[in-house]
Order: sequence, then C-alpha cells, then structure tokens
Amino acid sequence: MRIAVAGGTGAVGRHAVAALRAAGHEPVVISRGRGVDVRSTAGLDAALEGVDAVIDALSVETLDGAESVEFFRETTQNLLAAEARAGVGHHVALSIVAIDHAPFGYYAGKVAQEELVGVGEIPWTILRAAQFHEFAAQMYDRAKVGPLRVAPRMRTQPVAAREVGDALAAIAVASPAGRVPDLAGPREESLVRMVRAYARAIGSHGWIPAVPVPGAFGRAQRDGSLLPDASATLGRETFDQWLAGLRPPR
Ligand SMILES: NC(=O)c1ccc[n+]([C@@H]2O[C@H](COP(=O)([O-])OP(=O)(O)OC[C@H]3O[C@@H](n4cnc5c(N)ncnc54)[C@H](OP(=O)(O)O)[C@@H]3O)[C@@H](O)[C@H]2O)c1
Repeated sequence: MRIAVAGGTGAVGRHAVAALRAAGHEPVVISRGRGVDVRSTAGLDAALEGVDAVIDALSVETLDGAESVEFFRETTQNLLAAEARAGVGHHVALSIVAIDHAPFGYYAGKVAQEELVGVGEIPWTILRAAQFHEFAAQMYDRAKVGPLRVAPRMRTQPVAAREVGDALAAIAVASPAGRVPDLAGPREESLVRMVRAYARAIGSHGWIPAVPVPGAFGRAQRDGSLLPDASATLGRETFDQWLAGLRPPR
C-alpha cells in the first residue's frame, strides 16, 4: 500500500516510515524539509496522489494554547481536505495519553485535532501514546530557564518511539478502527531521572534542577493523572534499554 506519513522525518514519524518500508509498503514522507508544507498546502495534493492512508505525526514546538490549537486545527483541516480530494480511505492520528485530564497549552491543540478527526468525513483511527523515551532528549533540548536546563517533575510511563511507529504502520494498513487502546511503555519512570540520565549518556555533566511546573497541569504531572490507565497496551523496551542503545558521545 501507499501510505503518507505527515511528519515522517520527526521523532516518531521516521519510525513509522521505516516500519512501512520494512513491511513492503510504499511510504510517502511529508515534511517541510521534503518540500511539502501542510500549513500552506504547498506540495500536499501531489504528495497524496495514489495514497491509501495518511498517518499524521506532525508536531509544533510550542507551549502556547492558541498557537497549538491553530497549528493542529490548520494542519488537520488541510490534511483531511486534501485526503478527500485524493480519495484517501483512512486517516490515522497520533495523539497523547490523558490530554483531556489537565489544562495545558500544547494539549489544547491535540484535543482540537482529535475533535476534527472524529467529525471528519475520512474514516479514521486515533492512537494515543504516552511520552516517548525520546521525550527525555526533547526536554533536555527545550526545557530551559534562561541559560539553565531544567527537568519538570512528572510521572510518566514512556514508550519507545520505534514501537509507536511500528503500531502506527500496522494501524494504517488495517481498516479504520476509531479510538484504539492507548500505547504506553512497560513501566513508570520519573521524567527528572530520564532527563538527567539522558544528559549523562550524551556526555553532559552540568546540574539539571528538578522543577515543579506551577498550576493545575503541574499538579497533574506530579500526581499521576497523566499516566495511562489499566486498559493501555504496553510496549516492551524500557527507558534504560533505549538509553543503552544510544550512540556514545564522540
Ligand atoms: N514527543 C512525545 O513524547 C510524544 C508522545 C506522544 C505523542 N506525541 C505526538 O506525536 C506527534 C509527533 O511528535 P514528534 O515528537 O515526533 O514531533 P517532531 O519530532 O517535532 O517532528 C515533527 C514533524 O512534523 C514536521 N512538520 C512540522 N510542521 C510541518 C508543516 N507545516 N508541514 C509539514 N511537516 C511539518 C517536521 O518536519 P519539518 O520540520 O521538516 O517540517 C517533523 O517531521 C505529535 O502529534 C505529538 O503530539 C508525541
């Protein structure tokens, strides 16, 4: 099958692309770096020619609710409209576990995305995944107060992006299934420990203070409200196994 992966160069999208290729399918990578912009729609119709299903693994780097909602609304609407023009039969959206359990700017965009997919014309599947092991690297790169790197206090049950990519590829070649069970990792971790362990693994030995995020979202991060529930499917690779597989620093 010919399957487009929007965000196919990202932390999870690249694994969906690899899994599709390994299974003998034909992935079409959609990203600005590959000349397709889902916001402006430049190159989008051409990319969806002959495509059977679309996996949406796009993301935007923002904590701002309005920006997140604008990004996920615009990209979802543009994808669904282009899919309708191209006769695509299955839209697969990747979302995040517990996005509706606490108010958070980025999550507002994901809630808007899920709503649009759910009322859209294209038959759909939504998979909610827990934070990726790679989230430790994303936090290390992005969570800063001035020049200081910080680690937010959070209980999480992280999953390997590779396993999420494998799941997305399998979902995309199957029939649309609506909301499927959440996907999380094999065990609970502390995000603070993950970020510090990732920093050491890449040869960075600076101090990374643990910070409680203020407000209701921070409380939800700390009290376990953002963990998956008992119905979640669990991946196999632990955070420490993922970390051990990282290339050592040069
Ligand atoms: N990170 C996590 O821990 C986590 C956990 C669960 C679910 N998720 C969800 O998984 C999805 C992917 O997250 P990620 O962390 O893999 O993202 P990411 O690494 O930041 O990758 C984002 C991808 O989107 C592409 N992109 C962004 N804007 C675009 C545009 N206007 N047009 C075309 N392509 C565009 C980027 O490529 P270009 O920059 O080249 O355009 C890149 O391929 C998100 O929806 C996120 O909510 C993430």
